[in-house]
Amino acid sequence: MELPSLLLCVLLKVLAVNCEVENILIVAGDYSLSIYEGTEQEILPKIVVPHPEYNSTTNNNDIMLVKLKAPVYLNSYVSIALLPRHGATIPEGRMCRVSGWGYTSPSGGQIPSTLRTVKLPIVSTQKCNSSESFDGDITENMLCAGYSIGGKDACQGDSGGPLVCEGRVYGIVSWGRGCGEAQYPGVYAAVAKYRRWIDNTIFSYYSRCNNHN
Ligand SMILES: *[C@@H]1O[C@H](CO)[C@@H](O)[C@H](O)[C@H]1NC(C)=O
Ligand SMILES: *[C@@H]1O[C@H](CO)[C@@H](O)[C@H](O)[C@H]1NC(C)=O
Repeated sequence: MELPSLLLCVLLKVLAVNCEVENILIVAGDYSLSIYEGTEQEILPKIVVPHPEYNSTTNNNDIMLVKLKAPVYLNSYVSIALLPRHGATIPEGRMCRVSGWGYTSPSGGQIPSTLRTVKLPIVSTQKCNSSESFDGDITENMLCAGYSIGGKDACQGDSGGPLVCEGRVYGIVSWGRGCGEAQYPGVYAAVAKYRRWIDNTIFSYYSRCNNHN
């Protein structure tokens, strides 16, 4: 069964602090990276807006907006994932789905050619930030998800991908320690903390260049 392709990359993780606009290509409607399926839409970015308070040491505010040069056409391969309302919370234990083309094993190896996905429960910030886990490195702008026994997780190459809960992108794959380790769930940028910033940023660009955007 083919997985529904996700419209990834509307929200991209900051890949590098100085990431050049020219080095990004947004692809919608992709499933297999190794074959051309005819469903792909490739679009260049027009503007990238990293979060002004992104901290590469702590990974705090690990979020970036990308305005595309051209529209993406919605069809059965490309659809919209909604954003949560500002400040919306998702309770511990709620199941969410993360997707990506990242490593399927903590030791790396070959990356998968097709989009992979896994369902994971939300871990409370209290547990995730405790001395048994990330020991104080979790900020209020982060969200944790994973099983207490580990085994299922996002991994290298999944960064920037969506963590979807109740049909909304509550998280963006950000960081972790290893992959699938029992003690360390995956850490995500908590999108609901940024909804106001996202809306304000989009609106300010529209109002600044309201002719041909
Ligand atoms: C990043 O966070 C660390 C720890 O809070 C802080 O010491 C540092 O100054 C911050 N860096 C930037 C660029 O804000
Ligand atoms: C995580 O723990 C550190 C150290 O105790 C604390 O400064 C920080 O506020 C905690 N994060 C959250 C979201 O409570």
